[in-house]
Amino acid sequence: MTLILHIKASPRKESVSTQLAEQLIEKLKTTHAGAQVKVIDTETLPYVTEDMINAFYTPAETRTAEQSKLVAQSDALVADLFAAGAVVISTPMWNFTIPASLKSWIDLIVRVGLTFKFNPEGGFTSLIPDRKTYVVAATGGVPLGAPYDLLSPVLKTALGFVGIQSVEFIAAEGTNMPNAAEVIAGAKKKIETLAA
Ligand SMILES: Cc1cc2nc3c(=O)[nH]c(=O)nc-3n(C[C@H](O)[C@H](O)[C@H](O)COP(=O)(O)O)c2cc1C
Repeated sequence: MTLILHIKASPRKESVSTQLAEQLIEKLKTTHAGAQVKVIDTETLPYVTEDMINAFYTPAETRTAEQSKLVAQSDALVADLFAAGAVVISTPMWNFTIPASLKSWIDLIVRVGLTFKFNPEGGFTSLIPDRKTYVVAATGGVPLGAPYDLLSPVLKTALGFVGIQSVEFIAAEGTNMPNAAEVIAGAKKKIETLAA
């Protein structure tokens, strides 16, 4: 059974990015019959602490019970990512980039030895096999690709670093603009016509 993993970063009840992601997931379910959907609300994620970092860099077999507990949530997020047939990340643009809670998710899934490894001869190897990933973004006015857009580069770079290259952006760019309804309708239309 396909797992559709939804990483949801907007805390707002009327969130445009969440609503668009839900529409996209319904669309994906039509091509992945019986798919299971798992939602990770990034608001629930912790910041990485010093003790967590030490636990991350301690080999699993020599971790203390306390350290194993500290890595458990991150391990589970990584396992979800490996298991997912498709990933949907929905996010608002906040102050030119992603909300801190979505950065926490990145900090918890970019894991040495699990999702990437350093090569003895230098450089790194990504460890997650590529899979289709959609980023559904809502911005008040800044278009993706504009000089003020630090949202798409950070997601593209972090996902690419761990091996996820097939990233497609769907954006409602201008939800605070006079033509917001048109902007949102455009994003909905893009989802409708997407070859899932
Ligand atoms: C704290 C905060 C910061 C924001 N910063 C930006 C910004 O830098 N650029 C922008 O275009 N819109 C910005 N906005 C507007 C949001 O991106 C816009 O309202 C978007 O629709 C929010 O996504 P959501 O509807 O999924 O919550 C900001 C909104 C908030 C609440």
